[in-house]
Amino acid sequence: MISPELLRPYRFFASLTEEQLKDIAMIGEEKTFPADSIIFKENTTADNLMLLLEGGVELFYSGGGAGCAANAPVCSIVPGAIFGVSSLIKPYQYTASARATKPVKVVDINGARLREMSEKNLTLGNVLINNVAAAVLARLR
Ligand code: SIN
Repeated sequence: MISPELLRPYRFFASLTEEQLKDIAMIGEEKTFPADSIIFKENTTADNLMLLLEGGVELFYSGGGAGCAANAPVCSIVPGAIFGVSSLIKPYQYTASARATKPVKVVDINGARLREMSEKNLTLGNVLINNVAAAVLARLR
């Protein structure tokens, strides 16, 4: 559990109500990862939505396969951004792997609990999906 105050300043959470922010803070945990560690791997169950607080993260395709480059970078995640968006999008499998490029601090939000909350509260689900779309589009800028 974390304080809702920790989430409030970040764009992804800015449009949530006090109560929604409190509910999400209940299922959030602060975690750290050393530089060069793998935070999650592609094609595994997407159980965690992460907010990067400190450090840097690179998303990459480790796979390769016919005609594809192995370990191809997808994009960099900077502090204040979310990653692990597949935890909110069916079939809930990560599409890329995430590596810490520096020592990293995140808020890790339990994806299954977040999905349950979104199913019970469709307004919240709608806001979260819109914010995921905005976060992914922001990566292109
Ligand atoms: C994924 O969630 O599929 C990979 C990481 C991201 O794009 O946020």
